[in-house]
Amino acid sequence: MTRRAVVRGIGHYLPERVVANAEFEKTLDTTDAWIRSRSGIERRHFAAPGENTSDLATRAALAALANAGMEGAEIDAVILATSTADLTFPSAATMVQEAIGNTSGFAFDVQAVCAGFVYALANANALITSGQADRVLVIGAETFSRIMDWTDRGTCVLFGDGAGALVLEGVEGTGTPADSGILATDLNSDGRFRDLLYVDGGVSTGSAGVLRMQGKEVFRHAVEKLATTAETALARAGLTHDDVDWVVPHQANIRIIEATAKKLALPMERVVVTVQDHGNTSAASIPLALSVGVQRGQIKPGDLIVTEAIGGGLAWGAVVLRW
Ligand code: COA
Repeated sequence: MTRRAVVRGIGHYLPERVVANAEFEKTLDTTDAWIRSRSGIERRHFAAPGENTSDLATRAALAALANAGMEGAEIDAVILATSTADLTFPSAATMVQEAIGNTSGFAFDVQAVCAGFVYALANANALITSGQADRVLVIGAETFSRIMDWTDRGTCVLFGDGAGALVLEGVEGTGTPADSGILATDLNSDGRFRDLLYVDGGVSTGSAGVLRMQGKEVFRHAVEKLATTAETALARAGLTHDDVDWVVPHQANIRIIEATAKKLALPMERVVVTVQDHGNTSAASIPLALSVGVQRGQIKPGDLIVTEAIGGGLAWGAVVLRW
């Protein structure tokens, strides 16, 4: 018998305000056509003033709990992947913990930028398979609109706000790849590349700062590293790309998504794509895509999913799970 972390519920939340590419034409030297052709993004959501990451995370968490038929009080651990926590501390996860009415569990943030949700899933899996927790709420939530340089057309058109959440629970599996739940994970980082994508503020500067990116370089690393991490996680699970029903990639850029699918020898018909509607929501993009994929009727019970992401650090990784 092998203990597995299986998905019991899923949900997401997107702020009300939708911003189409054309809005940027008013303030920047850019066009809807440029943004679409270079990134695949058509629109994104931005949080309202006073609406913070923990608020988005709470909405997604409550939706996932409702979907699982569970109360917040039944959760053992809340793991929130975010790089845009409301405050330097406490963690946004503890804010969510209070908001969902949980006092018996423990809560913490995971900060691995766009790879954050993959890191959070791997942490949740480790807590569950080691017997330290039975029910873990794993959330990805971001308000990247708060760390944009609105004069930098190379970055501010690419990002959006949102949140998605999963409820995982420990069950006994058979130890074969036919099991439901998380089957394998692969995590990586390489701090030599930290200057390619970073925020130029924080505790050391006295202000939150804004995002800085060398887009072309990040693009190059992404295509190379995402396919490799996905293949590694699949091999660890004893599976190959032929077994995959759905790739659920980090939604940064349609060209990265397409190039990675090609390297994995998987047709775009087996890739869940939401980047056109959400932009890059960093750690929120994968749970958002999973939730939308379920809503659309793409992802069904029993499907084999590989999810992969890369972001600042650089940090990257993949998770193989059966829905
Ligand atoms: N509108 C119009 N022109 C723009 C623009 C915009 N919004 N943003 C940048 N440009 C211009 C640049 O100023 C540059 O002009 P120049 O050649 O006169 O200097 C040119 O477009 C850049 O072209 P290029 O570098 O060939 O663009 P690209 O095909 O690399 O696309 C990105 C740029 C940012 C979309 C792309 O590099 C990318 O997506 N990178 C990965 C970013 C990412 O996903 N990061 C997050 C990972 S988690």
